[in-house]
Amino acid sequence: TIIAQITENEEQNQKIYEQASDILKRGGLVAFPTETVYGLGADALDEEASAKIYAAKGRPSDNPLIVHIADTKALEELSCDVTAQAKLLAEKFWPGPLTMILKKSDCVPKSITGGLGTVAIRMPSHPVAAQLIRTSGVYIAAPSANISGKPSPTRGEHVIHDMKGRIDMIIVDDTVDIGVESTIVDLSEDVPTILRPGYITKEMLSEVLGEVRIDPAIMGSVKPGVVPKAPGMKYKHYAPDADLAIVEGDIDKVVDKINALTKEKEALGYRVGIMATQETKDRYESGVIKVVGSRKDEATVAHNLYAALREFDKQQVAYIYSEGFSENQVGQAVMNRLIKAAGHTIINV
Ligand code: TXA
Ligand code: MG
Repeated sequence: TIIAQITENEEQNQKIYEQASDILKRGGLVAFPTETVYGLGADALDEEASAKIYAAKGRPSDNPLIVHIADTKALEELSCDVTAQAKLLAEKFWPGPLTMILKKSDCVPKSITGGLGTVAIRMPSHPVAAQLIRTSGVYIAAPSANISGKPSPTRGEHVIHDMKGRIDMIIVDDTVDIGVESTIVDLSEDVPTILRPGYITKEMLSEVLGEVRIDPAIMGSVKPGVVPKAPGMKYKHYAPDADLAIVEGDIDKVVDKINALTKEKEALGYRVGIMATQETKDRYESGVIKVVGSRKDEATVAHNLYAALREFDKQQVAYIYSEGFSENQVGQAVMNRLIKAAGHTIINV
């Protein structure tokens, strides 16, 4: 695996883009940064190449991939039904952390759509991602660059940990801002529906589209028989090795409960991790305490969430207790990922 660091040296960067482009055009795999998380890319229209993505990640083959583009013209080629809504959203939010689901055109192989008649499309704003798509001239199919089921990578070291030896090249540039994956909105049916919450919120989409629904499966309120519409959302996901539980309620009670639970596990000889915030960090009495961000600015929590989960794994804790967060704005994306990482273990106090 070639590991290449983006620097200030533009000439050298250009060589990196050219080398990565050669690999992509020959059907190889290249991991690269985006503004949300690192992606694991292959030529989207080359079935053999995208099959390698599934193998490298250990990803179930019914879980479709997002196709990354650098120009809105690509929409017409990838989708046979670019709706007026899609055009409005592209104008307002692209390039950026929004993925649209549209009816696919014939050139998109079903092997990357999990057999579905729709395709997921996103135009990333990260300059390295955009430059790689442009230089290679291919549409890049890219899931997050983690081993399937693990937290998504937000730093080069995470990608190297999961993918070294499994793929051809890793481009490192730790300017991954947002930290949680793109918002996915399904435009292939009557009412636009959010299948995965992200930095672009329901309110932001509603301003452009009017009525927007949220897939009820999103916040884990899944009743038996209710299957999430994004195939990927049904798997255990974003999960650290440790057993994670979320403690929700009045913050003073949450802190007390986490202190009590931590002592209980420590008395049994276990190492315990605590996902704390700026506001609460000094109130925890034992355990491996990590500050994930500020309760007043949940974008900071989104930015640090996956790195914190991975750090707990490094420290080999057996249990992690996390404070809950509001389900407003990017807080909703944070809670969606946490609930899935916790396998729905929520303790209410
Ligand atoms: O921010 C992101 O979106 C990152 C970066 C790399 O762009 N990518 C990413 O990809 O998160 P991935 O594969 O980890 O998540 C894609 C999600 C999965 O839950 C998948 O099931 C859903 O998108 N998806 C893809 N195509 C779909 C389709 N046609 N219909 C419904 N859901 C789809
Ligand atoms: Mg993923």
